[in-house]
Amino acid sequence: TGFNVAVVGATGAVGREMLDILEERDFPVRTLRAMASKRSAGKTVEFRGKEVVIEDLEEASFEGVDFGLFSAGGSVSKKHAPRAVDAGVVVIDNTSAFRMDPDVPLVVPEVNPEAIVDGPGIIANPNCSTIQMVVALKPLHDAAGLERIIVSTYQSASGAGQKGIDELMASVKARVEGTDEPEAQKFAHPLAFEALPHIDVFFDSGFTREELKMVNETRKIMTLPELEVAATCVRVPSVRSHSESVTVDLDGELSVEKARELWEAAPGVKVYDDPANNVYPLARLAEKTDDTWVGRIRQDLDRPQTLHFWVVSDNLRKGAALNAVQIAEELVRRRSET
Ligand code: A2P
Repeated sequence: TGFNVAVVGATGAVGREMLDILEERDFPVRTLRAMASKRSAGKTVEFRGKEVVIEDLEEASFEGVDFGLFSAGGSVSKKHAPRAVDAGVVVIDNTSAFRMDPDVPLVVPEVNPEAIVDGPGIIANPNCSTIQMVVALKPLHDAAGLERIIVSTYQSASGAGQKGIDELMASVKARVEGTDEPEAQKFAHPLAFEALPHIDVFFDSGFTREELKMVNETRKIMTLPELEVAATCVRVPSVRSHSESVTVDLDGELSVEKARELWEAAPGVKVYDDPANNVYPLARLAEKTDDTWVGRIRQDLDRPQTLHFWVVSDNLRKGAALNAVQIAEELVRRRSET
């Protein structure tokens, strides 16, 4: 019994997290296949106490695989996800390759589980910054209607994968030790002791691709094509977890007390908000947790229909691997009901 699961990009920051989460949540895995580039082929990863030999994706067959969790980059997904689908696989793709394709569901299970379609095909996992924001926005929308979102992010190095973490560490070490700082590669400038208002490429509008992902993906997931969203995405030297300052204009008035109640009842959300005692969400607190942490909840001083809050979540977990596994769990649940 169980399902045959392939993790594509199994050696990466997100791929390793996928293996951990499948194991932790006791996902019904019959066989686990680990795939990565030729560089890793023949090496092993651990799953349920056993060594799994990594296969070269280029050579690997998807015959018999039920779920393919892809996190090896957009170009890799573009090339290999279609052939996995042809072999009958449900691909849950963590890259941006298919997210805005109108035929591909873009899913956060707490927000739009109804968009999940079973059967061979691609289901896209949204961008990490978008996922935690929509998890927090969903209950507010249901209660009072969203009009406009203004968000500024404080995103961790791990959003750029293991190489991003390594580059941050090397740059911090060099700065602390007073040695030559390595040249920035994953980031536009060295990230140590810095806040970089630049993630991914700039467009003519002045916004970056990361910022537009937050706009377009939020509209698609929430089925609010007209929703006004303005994002400023910033890379900061935290290792894991993205933090976001969110300002939301609502159609109706919503008190802080009511918002807190809504969030306390919302799936996946943890209210952590007692500023007088230095209690508010922090990157290191959210690290390795499954929750979307919400705090610093305030009503705007001038506009009663506007709320401000701070939201933090582990970008490798809810922002990536966990969300993907939850989508697979929803399919397993549906199949067990039929
Ligand atoms: P590999 O370790 O063999 O390079 P991260 O986001 O942490 O950088 O991880 C990227 C993941 O994607 C790794 O598992 C990496 O494998 C994998 N990957 C990168 N390029 C390819 C490729 N061309 N084919 C298959 N897997 C790839």
